[in-house]
Amino acid sequence: MLVIEGLTKRYATGDLALDDVSLTVPKGQVMALIGPSGAGKSTLIRCVNRLVEPTAGTIRLGETVLTALGDRALRRARRRMGMIFQEYALVERLSVMENVLSGRLGYVGFWRSWFRRFPLADIEEAFRLLARVGLDHMVDKRADALSGGQRQRVGIVRALMQDPELLLVDEPTASLDPKTSRQIMRLIIELAKERGLAAIINIHDVALAQQFAERIVGLHAGRIVFDGPASDLTPEVLTTIYGEEDWSATIRKAEDDDEDEPPAVEAARIAAAD
Ligand SMILES: Nc1ncnc2c1ncn2[C@@H]1O[C@H](COP(=O)(O)OP(=O)(O)OP(=O)(O)O)[C@@H](O)[C@H]1O
Ligand SMILES: [Mg+2]
Repeated sequence: MLVIEGLTKRYATGDLALDDVSLTVPKGQVMALIGPSGAGKSTLIRCVNRLVEPTAGTIRLGETVLTALGDRALRRARRRMGMIFQEYALVERLSVMENVLSGRLGYVGFWRSWFRRFPLADIEEAFRLLARVGLDHMVDKRADALSGGQRQRVGIVRALMQDPELLLVDEPTASLDPKTSRQIMRLIIELAKERGLAAIINIHDVALAQQFAERIVGLHAGRIVFDGPASDLTPEVLTTIYGEEDWSATIRKAEDDDEDEPPAVEAARIAAAD
């Protein structure tokens, strides 16, 4: 479980990116974080893994107070957070398998990883996960020869190789076509559900968030202005989050439901709509 209390971030430039944000994400819950550009979505995710230092507030992952950790303990705690970022670069000249195994670097000793001698169990797990995302025929391909969707799958597998408790996902579909975007979102959510991971997914595509996430949190100017099930995302709510606009085409109608939507997500939406 991730517990954020009173999180505030003011950058050195004076920008107040987050203003007293409190949020709990239980184990097994996939939460989409939406909001206009500059609302503070990336800042929130980066405060959790402390790529950005919070100005005030506390963040706990399970029993660990992340905001109180020194360098060493922070490195250890980061193993528990899988990060999937749109721009989170793969090592271009390394193969798919090598990139995936780099997810184990936090666990494998320095010399073993230097010689790229990973335990057999890690390699087997990598093969299993790559097969799961449909890339098992590409293990030897160099990262720089992959398409955007394939790269994102490698990023997902690498994050899962860390055996994390929490997934932090920042705009996973920003440069992908609509179909690939859906496949990637579905994959992230299925895998998170299977493993009982908590996940925060920053996403610009409201319809996609609504289709796949059981809970949506809307940020506006660094404050939470909406927190509820996808079915509660009305035009009025979208106006609060993004500002005045005609939202009728954006809101996802129940009859648009894909047949292949993950059952857990569908069940959550049905339950939330009751
Ligand atoms: N490194 C930084 N230094 C100073 N200000 C920053 C920095 N990073 C972000 N900001 C500011 O903090 C605010 C929130 O930015 P953030 O990147 O978190 O927004 P976002 O919701 O992720 O936006 P987008 O949807 O465009 O990615 C913005 O006003 C931004 O200008
Ligand atoms: Mg961002």
